[in-house]
This record gives sequence, structure tokens and C-alpha cells, in this order.
Amino acid sequence: MTVIRPSRSSDLDEIFSLESYWDYAPHWLRPQLEAELLRPDSIFLSAESPDSRLCGYFIGRILEKELQVLSISVGPAYLRRAIAARLLDCAFSKARLKGCARATLEVSERNIPALNLYKKSGFQIVGKRVKFYNDGSSALLMDKLL
Ligand SMILES: CC(C)(COP(=O)(O)OP(=O)(O)OC[C@H]1O[C@@H](n2cnc3c(N)ncnc32)[C@H](O)[C@@H]1OP(=O)(O)O)[C@@H](O)C(=O)NCCC(=O)NCCS
Repeated sequence: MTVIRPSRSSDLDEIFSLESYWDYAPHWLRPQLEAELLRPDSIFLSAESPDSRLCGYFIGRILEKELQVLSISVGPAYLRRAIAARLLDCAFSKARLKGCARATLEVSERNIPALNLYKKSGFQIVGKRVKFYNDGSSALLMDKLL
């Protein structure tokens, strides 16, 4: 069974590869990932397969009692096994324990897998930034009560 656990610096090579692999990931740079691990307001989680491979990760930050979802990706070999859904659930639990009442994010209207994931995890569309991304797509703003 895949384990969800806090990320470690030894995960960062694989996280950086995955972050660079997907078009829709925000493409954090390696130093940004290293800095994120050290932030006290960060929730940074890894999904590890039974054979100790990194199969996904989640990055979020807590700002004024709100969990901001910043990046989530799952490796191409591990898709549709509820790994992203479990990463989100774990992040929600941690954020609740830190007093958060709400989670927020923005996602491209063209990123159907992520949009469906977020809807299934209880997010609702609350706004739109028209033609926000470089590819001309709009950003959907989504919220969820924790
Ligand atoms: C979006 C992403 C994280 C989903 O990861 P995942 O582990 O495959 O997702 P899950 O298995 O937890 O899926 C949960 C739900 O999301 C939706 N979903 C996931 N992948 C989907 C797809 N390819 N098409 C349509 N819906 C999809 C479904 O509703 C799914 O539930 P179901 O399997 O019961 O139908 C993954 O596709 C990914 O890494 N994408 C590239 C990076 C990215 O776009 N990240 C988001 C922006 S930072």
C-alpha cells in the first residue's frame, strides 16, 4: 500500500523530475523545493510505493488559517489509484489540526484531470481569472470548507 508521509530532502530529486515532467505543474525550481521543505507554514507530503519509489507529492501553505494548494502531481505509472485524493485528504487533516477552516487553489480550466480531482475532493468553483495562463486558458479559483 502506498504510504503518505512528510517529504524529505532525499525525495527532492524525484519530486523535481515529476514537477518538470507535467505541463500543468507550476514547475518549481530545485532551490524553491529545498526552501519549501524548511518553511514552518508548508505542508509538503510524499506518496511512497511499497517498493520505496516516490509516486506523488503535494505542496501547500497555510496562510491566515487557509490551506493554499500550490502543487500536486502523481507519476505517470501511478495515475488513477487515488494517490492524489489521499495526498489531498492527508493535507486537509494536517491543515485542520493547524486551525484551518478552508482550502483554496487555482487550476487551469483545461486541466480536466485536476479539475475533476478537486471537484471530487469537495472543492467548488468560486471565481475565474480570464486568460490567466500563457496558453490563453483561464484560471478557475476553487474553495473547500475543511
Ligand atoms: C491531477 C493528478 C494529480 C491526479 O492524480 P491521480 O492520483 O491520478 O488522481 P486520483 O486517482 O486520486 O483521482 C481522483 C479523481 O480525480 C479525477 N481524475 C483523475 N485523473 C483523471 C483523468 N485523467 N481524467 C478525468 N478525471 C480524472 C477522477 O474524478 C478521479 O476519481 P475516479 O478515479 O474515482 O474517477 C494527476 O493527473 C497529475 O499528476 N497531473 C499532472 C500534474 C497536475 O496537473 N497537477 C495539478 C496542478 S498543480
